Amino acid sequence: IKRVTTHVIQELKNKGEKISALTAYDYSMARVVDAAGVELILVGDSASNVMAGHETTLPITLDQMIYHASAVVRAVKRALVVVDLPFGSYQGNSSEALRSAIRIMKEAGAHAVKLEGGLEVRESVLRILSAGVPVMGHLGLTPQSIYKFGTYAVRAKEETEAQKLLDDAQMLQDIGCFSIVLEKIPAALTKQVSETLTIPTIGIGAGPYADGQILVIHDLLGINKEFKPRFLRRYADLHTIMTNAISHYVDDVKSREFPNEQEAY
Ligand code: KIV
Ligand code: NA
Repeated sequence: IKRVTTHVIQELKNKGEKISALTAYDYSMARVVDAAGVELILVGDSASNVMAGHETTLPITLDQMIYHASAVVRAVKRALVVVDLPFGSYQGNSSEALRSAIRIMKEAGAHAVKLEGGLEVRESVLRILSAGVPVMGHLGLTPQSIYKFGTYAVRAKEETEAQKLLDDAQMLQDIGCFSIVLEKIPAALTKQVSETLTIPTIGIGAGPYADGQILVIHDLLGINKEFKPRFLRRYADLHTIMTNAISHYVDDVKSREFPNEQEAY
């Protein structure tokens, strides 16, 4: 199989073909996601929520991200594997940002890193790029700044914030980012950014005009029953399927139906 590189991701935009992306955090899930044909797998710091049960993405550490990422990299044969730089591993200090990115590339075997923000993280992005590490940007709703925003509501609805997002996107492209995630912004702004930039945009809750789409795999599969934002489409109801399977197993154990003779040695 031909590996998806950042160049392949760019060619998809050039051809007008939409890019499919999903998160994964472990070996078994990443194998399925990769084999199903997704082009870009993000080891998101959403692992903090989805895998560890934290309320925000802030607590997850660089060591923990490397643990998740190395498992995903071992599973993936085709997709581009992008790994989030966690909160505190790149902001404000470009040397530390470079060190963090190098650890992710070296210890996990990732293909690229992603980090949140625009002008504020410009020096960090430049430094990482100068080491030959591909960088994906992330603008709009940036969950590592949740305590600044206060809510997970739609971002950049007003002109000044929209203009800052446009400027940040242009800057990230100019310094060499290969792609940008746009999270929870109005569809019209996504359209404007995606038409202005030559690099691909990957949207989540950002409408149909992004060059690609990304979702958290647990959300797409319906594993979390409670999380129901408007942007989310559930492609399966694994919560029900898993609950039924497990309660069936409990019943069979209690009733001595499992294991049967064929299942014994
Ligand atoms: O951590 C994550 O899952 C992400 C995506 C939602 C883009 O950053
Ligand atoms: Na993230």
